[in-house]
Amino acid sequence: MRERLLGNTETRVSIVGYGAMALSLERVPEAEAIDTLHRVFDLGVTFIDTAYSYCDDERDQHHNEKLIARALSSWTGDASRIVVATKGGAIRVNGRWLRKGAPEHLYDVIRASHEALGGREPIALWQHHWPDPRVPIRDSMAAARRAVDEGLVRHVGISNYSVAQIEEARSVVDIVTVQNQYNLWCRDPERDGVLAYCERENICFLPYRPVGGLGLAQQLHHTRVLAELAAARGVSPWRLMIAWFLARSPCILPIPGSMRWKNAEDCLRAAEVALTPDEVRRIDAISIDELPRLTTDPRPLVLPADS
Ligand SMILES: NC(=O)c1ccc[n+]([C@@H]2O[C@H](COP(=O)([O-])OP(=O)(O)OC[C@H]3O[C@@H](n4cnc5c(N)ncnc54)[C@H](OP(=O)(O)O)[C@@H]3O)[C@@H](O)[C@H]2O)c1
Repeated sequence: MRERLLGNTETRVSIVGYGAMALSLERVPEAEAIDTLHRVFDLGVTFIDTAYSYCDDERDQHHNEKLIARALSSWTGDASRIVVATKGGAIRVNGRWLRKGAPEHLYDVIRASHEALGGREPIALWQHHWPDPRVPIRDSMAAARRAVDEGLVRHVGISNYSVAQIEEARSVVDIVTVQNQYNLWCRDPERDGVLAYCERENICFLPYRPVGGLGLAQQLHHTRVLAELAAARGVSPWRLMIAWFLARSPCILPIPGSMRWKNAEDCLRAAEVALTPDEVRRIDAISIDELPRLTTDPRPLVLPADS
C-alpha cells in the first residue's frame, strides 16, 4: 500500500489505517480477530488505531491492545513496520465511556498500555482520547510529555480537541496527529477550523467513524449520489467514501473499522482508488438532508466526566 509520513515526523505509515475497536467491542472470537489483523497487515496497512478503553469494562482494560500485540507477535511479516496508535483518557465503566484526564491517571495508563503492547519498544503514537473539563489541558499533556521524556512514548496525538485546545497541548509537547469525528453526517472539522489548522501545521488528521460508525455505516449505500458514483466506478459506497477522504486533503489518514475482514478489506482498498475532481465535488456537495437518519446512536460517544 502507498505510504506517507506521519505528520512532521520521519515515521512512514500506510495512507489508510485500520481502526481495531470493533474487534473488542463486538467480542469477535480471538482466532477470527487475529486472522483479520494478520490480513490487514498482509495488505500493507501499517497504521492501527486502538485505545486502552476498547474493552467491556474495568475488568478487561487493554483488551484491544493485547489482542493487537498477540497478532503482531504471531505474524510472519515485519512487525517493526506497524505503527500502533493507542489512546488513554477515557475509561469504560459498565459499557459506558467516561473522561478521566488527571495527569497521574494518564501517566499510569500510558505505562500500562506500554506493557500491554509488549513493553519493549516505546508506544509509537499515544493519543489523549478526550479532554477532561475538570483538568487543564496543560496538566493532562504533562503526563504525555513525561512519558516521551522517559522513552515510553515516541509521538503524541490528541483526539476530540478544538483548535484552541490543540494549541494549548502543543505548548507542552509536540503533537503529530489529531483524531476527531469526521464523516458525511459530521462535517465539523471543515467548519471548526481543525482540518485547516492540521493542513497548515503539517499535523496528520485521523477522521474517526469515517463511514458513519455502527448503525449509520449500514445505511451509507442509501445515499443516492454515493450509490450512483459507486455503481459507475464499480466499487462499494464504503470504499468510495474512504477514497473521498484521501482526495479531500493530503493531511488526512482515514481509519475505517470493521469486525469483518471482507468489509475491512473493502474500505482499505480505497488506497487504490483516485477520485476525479468531479467525483470529489459531488460527494462534497451531499447535504445532511440527503442522508439516512438514526434516532439513537448505537455506540454513544464519551460522556461528561464523573464529578
Ligand atoms: N477517538 C475517538 O473518540 C473514537 C471514537 C470512535 C471510533 N474511533 C476509532 O475510529 C475507528 C473507526 O470508527 P468506527 O469503527 O466507529 O466507525 P466506521 O469505521 O465509520 O464504521 C464502522 C462500521 O462500518 C461498517 N463497515 C465498514 N466497512 C464496511 C463495508 N465495506 N461495507 C459495509 N459495512 C462496512 C462496519 O460493519 P462491520 O463491523 O459489520 O463490518 C461497522 O459497523 C474505530 O475502530 C476506532 O479506532 C475513535
